[in-house]
Amino acid sequence: MKQKEIINKLTNEEKAAMLSGKTVWQTREIDRLDIPSIFCADGPHGIRKQAGEGDHLGLNASLPATCFPTAATIANSWNDKLGEEIGKALGEEAASQGVNVLLGPGLNIKRSPLCGRNFEYFSEDPYLSGKMAAAYIKGIQGQGVCACPKHFAVNSQEERRMAMNAVIDERTLREIYLTGFEIAVEEGKAGALMTSYNQVNGQYANENKHLLQDILRDEWGFEGMVITDWGGSNDHVEGVKVRSNLEMPAPGLDSARQLLKALEEGRLSQKELDQCTEDLLNGILKWSNTNTGQGFDQEAHHKLAQKAAAESIVLLKNQEDILPLRSKARVALIGDFAIEPRYQGAGSSMVNPTRLETMEEVIKDSELTILGCVKGYERSGKADAAMRKAAIDLAEKADVVLFCFGLDELSESEGIDRSHMRIPQNQIELLEDLGKVNPNIVGVLSAGSAIEMPWQHCLKGILHTYLGGQAGARAVLDIVTGKENPSGRLAESYPIHYEDTPGFCYFPAHQRDSQYRESLFVGYRYYDSAKVRVLYPFGYGLSYSSFEYTDLKITEQGVSCVVKNTSQIDGAEVVQLYIGKDSEKVFRPEKELKGYQKVFIKAGESQEVQILFDDKSFRYWNVKTNRWEIEAGEYHIYIGASSMDIKLTGELVQTGTGAEAPYIKEEMEHYFSAIVNEVSDEEYKALLGKDIPNGKWEGKIGSNDAICQLYYAKSGIARFIYKRLTAMKNKSMEKGKPDLNILFIYNMPLRAIAKMTGGAVSSDMVNGMVTVVNGHFFKGIKRIIGGFFTNRRGNKRYEDTLSTKK
Ligand code: BGC
Repeated sequence: MKQKEIINKLTNEEKAAMLSGKTVWQTREIDRLDIPSIFCADGPHGIRKQAGEGDHLGLNASLPATCFPTAATIANSWNDKLGEEIGKALGEEAASQGVNVLLGPGLNIKRSPLCGRNFEYFSEDPYLSGKMAAAYIKGIQGQGVCACPKHFAVNSQEERRMAMNAVIDERTLREIYLTGFEIAVEEGKAGALMTSYNQVNGQYANENKHLLQDILRDEWGFEGMVITDWGGSNDHVEGVKVRSNLEMPAPGLDSARQLLKALEEGRLSQKELDQCTEDLLNGILKWSNTNTGQGFDQEAHHKLAQKAAAESIVLLKNQEDILPLRSKARVALIGDFAIEPRYQGAGSSMVNPTRLETMEEVIKDSELTILGCVKGYERSGKADAAMRKAAIDLAEKADVVLFCFGLDELSESEGIDRSHMRIPQNQIELLEDLGKVNPNIVGVLSAGSAIEMPWQHCLKGILHTYLGGQAGARAVLDIVTGKENPSGRLAESYPIHYEDTPGFCYFPAHQRDSQYRESLFVGYRYYDSAKVRVLYPFGYGLSYSSFEYTDLKITEQGVSCVVKNTSQIDGAEVVQLYIGKDSEKVFRPEKELKGYQKVFIKAGESQEVQILFDDKSFRYWNVKTNRWEIEAGEYHIYIGASSMDIKLTGELVQTGTGAEAPYIKEEMEHYFSAIVNEVSDEEYKALLGKDIPNGKWEGKIGSNDAICQLYYAKSGIARFIYKRLTAMKNKSMEKGKPDLNILFIYNMPLRAIAKMTGGAVSSDMVNGMVTVVNGHFFKGIKRIIGGFFTNRRGNKRYEDTLSTKK
């Protein structure tokens, strides 16, 4: 034990108190032993440090910070070095604001394009997600700030995110949903990790022994702090037993009292309490000295945000080489997003930018001849004939139209999933009208996740900017004018229709259980294997340059090939390594990403590109031996410019680890054929290796049921609360801006009331509320009132114990 001396000096009251937050963002200090408090802040693409009142939903203002492009955007750069540079800048800003723990990056897998937080996550692929996350972590922690990758694990939907259960087989868990975290922990050496709200196979992630102890600590050797998501703790005692070290935000001392009670009753051992305290203490002592108190170079970080955006923009279409535009081209700039950009998503990641550039402003600095800039449409989707006419009149006079459009705010927010993949219809109608007066339209698309594009024939060029951060506008301009050569490649697939997605039948779960029936077949793993056509494949993106691939060499160590820039323009290519294997024993996706490299190659020059194999290249998780194995035989090695644009192929034989075959093919045909939207109950059962949980609701509201389920409550008051909240939620939706508070409360389980009220409500009081909700009004009220006084007394007494120790 590293901190044996301090642990011996701490009382059990102090230890128990330290294991939950003091305020929304801070840990509890113990002055008499000089144990400081550390400060946590979001987030993944910019610091959200709230100087005033804190909240975890991005509601109150935070200090100005650089708003970098979101993770979904940066993943398109396929450039780990860039990720590290951004991490470094984030770390510097965090340190300058006295933030010790930065709550990011977010690296959940994009199981479905509809998840409301996809903009905050990197990719549908675990390898790319893990590598990018590790790069951010290295950058952040290099500045003495602790990174806290999140949300561990299998957190794929926002609907009822705190009250849902991911039903998933061990292989899918390991290969798809954990591999990114494994890389973030092992390569990135993350100092902390945030658990997710949901359950995984019937146990909350935060108290899941399999995830937190067996895998994270024992297999991956994680030594850092495990922190709950805000309000995500269910049973603090169970969490502490599996070394979840810090319950956030500030549940008051009710949680600490629960720990002491469990200790007294022998449900928690002294060793477990000490171990958990020590993990936290190690973290606090390691990361408490980050405050440089110095400012940061705002201009330099703004420029970095611009460079990052430019490297991450994906050129999807460039018919007749419409881009780059010739200087002096007469341009009509159309679209609300040109004037008020969509550059980040909503929720806890929301940054208050140091400045914000718009296309309308920056385009004036170019050599283009700007004929005008008009809004064209209302972003809320409302029709506006006058706006439309002004746009058409302007388009008519121009050589080329730059049409800025995309997803509105409501579509990209924490707390709510999208219900479809379309962009607002009024934007499409305008686009069609513009096409009638001007055939030369370049679409500048802002959207943090995949969308359907049935309108793409109306555009000659499409630049997908994702959510480009505060300096995104200038990055777009540089690509439009040819000052920068686009080099972004999609980190997720673009299906033609939402119905084509593998999770279509299974996502999102509206009740407690979410069945991960599609197994490994997420994103391109499904489209490529099941031969489903997509609009734009994973890894796809155009450049103003062209490249030629030759000379594939495969050795035991890795692959190499030569890439030539056959154009007149310097440019960058992303060389992607995929590996696949035909097998009758182990079902697999046709190919999987196992390495990549972004190379900058001057016009006419060639470069040898080397990608080494690693421990993840050939492995699969065997559910019989319960470990990683390598199947013997011949593997297909693919070098591609996207998952569907394979340039070079070869073979490599592996001797394998000789493990027994994990599956009986006849029992799970749809997994072997990858037609996973037709998986039967029997096949899913075979995949899980056990019965499918019945998922039936017990007919009585419990403390783990979400507030949106009060619909079923026996109590009229509870149903009234449900109706009021639903009406408030719908009203805010109509306004086009999500009300995050309402959404959070709506999807929150009753137990979280005790965790989110700073000690005012105890879990005993919540039990009283549950009793009321289930129709026992007087019994419940008695418990609430009794609980209120007991809690107040208990808090006061506990505070006194802590302060007399000073
Ligand atoms: C989010 C986390 C975030 C935390 C603190 C939660 O609602 O899920 O990602 O870090 O709030 O703001």
